[in-house]
Amino acid sequence: MRLLAPVAALLAVHGASAQLHQLAVAAGKMYFGSATDNGELNDAAYVRILTDPNEFGQTTPGNGQKWQYTQPSRGSFSYSSGDQIANFAKTNNMILRCHTLVWHSQLPSWVSSGSWTKEQLTSIIETHIANVAGHYRGQCYAWDVVNEALNEDGTFRTSVFYTVLGESFIPIAFKAAAAADPDAKLYYNDYNIENTGAKQAATLRIIGSIKQAGGRIDGVGMQAHLIVGSTPSQRNLEAAMNSYVAAGASEVTYTELDIRFSSLPPTAAGLRTQADDYATVTRACLAVDACIGITIWDFTDKYSWIPNTFPGQGAALLYDENFSKKPAWTAVSTVLAAAATGGPGPSTTLTTVTTTTTTGAPAPTCTAAKWGQCGGDGWTGCTIA
Ligand code: XIL
Repeated sequence: MRLLAPVAALLAVHGASAQLHQLAVAAGKMYFGSATDNGELNDAAYVRILTDPNEFGQTTPGNGQKWQYTQPSRGSFSYSSGDQIANFAKTNNMILRCHTLVWHSQLPSWVSSGSWTKEQLTSIIETHIANVAGHYRGQCYAWDVVNEALNEDGTFRTSVFYTVLGESFIPIAFKAAAAADPDAKLYYNDYNIENTGAKQAATLRIIGSIKQAGGRIDGVGMQAHLIVGSTPSQRNLEAAMNSYVAAGASEVTYTELDIRFSSLPPTAAGLRTQADDYATVTRACLAVDACIGITIWDFTDKYSWIPNTFPGQGAALLYDENFSKKPAWTAVSTVLAAAATGGPGPSTTLTTVTTTTTTGAPAPTCTAAKWGQCGGDGWTGCTIA
């Protein structure tokens, strides 16, 4: 790879501490980004880092564009939370990923508890998407059109959408999104599809069914809510991405990357393992041309969603709660810098990582708390979110 002069100069001065978005772009990616949320934008120290154009070039609203906020009651649309983040992205010249149109969670009960005919629910989906994606038309680089439609075994998740419409709700949503915002890239987004397996195979079938129905799907978003020490191998990460491309996705991206500790506080050795895991994901994205970038699900442990959803777990991000960079930040920066300067990057991990396999394990039956979710590679907890 040709070394861009400004990057060479930058690395000569800063070495591995040159910043993430700048290095990702120099390495040929579109962005390195971070999700954010409305409340956090009042924290000046937080905003200073998020708006550093060298550090983050992309953002995603963590909540504000979800159905519960955008159409809390039927026919009444509200964009104040989503607009705040969209405007923030515009002001700071950040690429905006929009999230999300059709999801079983954070779905108001007027939708989930209604008893709908197929025609009625189709019209509700189409109206929601026409309004919300229409409102943001031209502002979103990409939309997560459908989020988390699958169970771990690759069957479809039970939701009002699946119960009433079967899997046809997915092409219905993609066609509506294509009509509402023709220039936005349209993504299917899910967790535990970073690795190969039943859920990844089912994702391939979703790509096929959208195309077969005459719809357009551009990308697969791999949420990548991972667990320290159980991150899939680089080889498997690449295999999953390559399979989506082979099935017809023109791009893939890590949409919500965080790598959490299952118990706290992290040890120094744990932080090194976390750094290795982040480096593995970064290397995998670099190795696959169609992987356009990486978004972390916020950048500081201060505002991570993990402790609320997985009690007792956390410390999943690149900056700690006091905005200090963790070893994982240095690992990501080092891998990106090596790619930006044409080097191969460190090829071996510092720590031996064992991958947990849950094949054959008895299925747990617990249910996640409200707004919670199950999952993460190696997760052995709840099965119903
Ligand atoms: C999370 C938000 O970060 C939390 O603030 C909220 O309470 C619950 O949702 N998968 C997704 C994201 O697609 O929308 C979720 O975001 C995290 C899991």
